[in-house]
Amino acid sequence: MNIPTFKVFLPPSEVLMPRLEEILYSGQISEGVPVVEFEHRFGQLIQCPDILSFNSGTAALHGALVLAGVRPGDEVISTAMTAEPTNMAILHAGAKIVWADVDPNNGNLTAESVAAKITSRTRAIMVVHYGGIPAPIDGIRAVANGIPVIEDAAHALGARYNNKPIGCHSEFVMFSLQAIKHMTTIDGGMLACNTFKGNANIKDLLAEGRKFRWFGIDRAAPRTEVDVSTVGYKYHMNNVTATIGLVQLDYIAPVIARHIANGKYFDQALQDIPGLSLCQWDAQAEPSYWFYTVLVKDREKFSRHLSANGIANSQAHKRNDLHSVFSSSRCNLPGLDAFYEKMIHIPCGWWVSDAQREFIVNVIRQGW
Ligand SMILES: Cc1ncc(COP(=O)(O)O)c(C=O)c1O
Repeated sequence: MNIPTFKVFLPPSEVLMPRLEEILYSGQISEGVPVVEFEHRFGQLIQCPDILSFNSGTAALHGALVLAGVRPGDEVISTAMTAEPTNMAILHAGAKIVWADVDPNNGNLTAESVAAKITSRTRAIMVVHYGGIPAPIDGIRAVANGIPVIEDAAHALGARYNNKPIGCHSEFVMFSLQAIKHMTTIDGGMLACNTFKGNANIKDLLAEGRKFRWFGIDRAAPRTEVDVSTVGYKYHMNNVTATIGLVQLDYIAPVIARHIANGKYFDQALQDIPGLSLCQWDAQAEPSYWFYTVLVKDREKFSRHLSANGIANSQAHKRNDLHSVFSSSRCNLPGLDAFYEKMIHIPCGWWVSDAQREFIVNVIRQGW
């Protein structure tokens, strides 16, 4: 038995390859019609009509921060319990990271801790749905009180909150399409832009975002007539990766459904095991279980026991406040201390079969 924690999902080659061949030899491989179509169809998936595509989730986060008005020297409240790009993007925007603390039951920011960290210099709040468990969006948005919230939903495609898909609750919501996410285009990032007080004029915001992702240039205007007035980057998506995305969209529903079915199975089957507790979340949150996080005693032993039985497991991420690049933000984070000491992720994605998930539960029930 060898059950990986992460696995790349690609559509069947007989479906994907003809579409790829067509676009590759079309003579139009940079940003064009397929990118626009992919933005439109991705928006339907998450019920947000206004999507900006990027060539990575990290670029999309950088875009979100700049569009939210974050400028060098501003403060952005964030979480250390995430992948490094969440916080690297804040440094790309030149801002100062202020850590808020997480709920030891799930690794997500708490509204109380965010509230305690808000100052007159706070320009945005970065919220991660760790592992696909929605953070307490209602509470965080209430304390944000108009400060733009950027949701990093890299792990949370298909998750829901208040009966609506993650993607439509905050000013900005980023999805990563990197290799091992629920859905991949090899690399890519999608930024959902929603209308709230701070970004009331979505049309202007989208135009600004399109310039930001392409050298500050308005691609729609004649090249020799444009004036570049702001710094821009080479962050746009291309037609080849967008085509992969368009084909992936035909397959994504059952992929996400299987993550969720396996996650819900573990929610039941892993109850009442000595030394193991399950994550907990808001009643209005519906996770999409990118991986399945358990909190265990004697984590090293637990990990060795699973590995010896061919079940991959991992902590996946180092708490970001331990990196020297983020050292100036260090502070006391007791919730994170408690979560980080016990958390470990086990496989629950689309590739885990009924027999494999039963096997995982039996191996854990044997004890470690
Ligand atoms: C939580 C989180 N945020 C951001 C990113 C960055 O996304 P990308 O790799 O698409 O740049 C990732 C993954 O790589 C991630 O796991």
